[in-house]
Amino acid sequence: MGRMLLGISLLLNIALLGGGAYMFMKGSVAPSEDGRTAIVLDKGEKAFVLTEMRALLETVHAVLLAVEDGDMKEAGIAARKFGMADMQAAPKSLMLKMPMGFKSLGHAMHTGWDTIANEAESMGDKKKVTVLLTEQLGRCTACHSAFKLK
Ligand code: HEC
Repeated sequence: MGRMLLGISLLLNIALLGGGAYMFMKGSVAPSEDGRTAIVLDKGEKAFVLTEMRALLETVHAVLLAVEDGDMKEAGIAARKFGMADMQAAPKSLMLKMPMGFKSLGHAMHTGWDTIANEAESMGDKKKVTVLLTEQLGRCTACHSAFKLK
């Protein structure tokens, strides 16, 4: 009897773990009219993501302004704010709802800011920073054409 209960609880645990892993990969998504994948979030989570997005656009502006001024130290500071440290600060509940494709694009984008910050801080090469920023904007647009919020 004890063995059987143990067996059942083991099976249940495996099912739960599998379900958790499935949720982690798939996230909370729905199809949408425009062909993009809609990520279904609650109001607070949606506001959090969009606030972060507006700050990202401000960062693009801040880095370009600093590069124009030849102030590479400032460009580095602005870019660093949204490096990987920022992604690690995202709420866990949100990470569970984001599909894998979104998380990996988000990861590439946060790493991109660290790369820009490293370049700006070390050599301070204007041209290289602009090239990296152009690559970075490609990550923004790739994600926007694949995902929306709902
Ligand atoms: C991992 C995916 C992802 C990446 C990377 C990403 N975004 Fe977004 N962004 C979104 C989604 C999803 C929305 C909501 C779009 C919708 O619902 O139509 C959004 C919305 C926005 C908005 C609108 C905000 C508002 O208040 O409505 C801005 C501005 C924005 N993003 C800027 C950026 C910039 C700049 C970058 C790159 C530095 C970037 N995003 C990178 C997913 C991403």
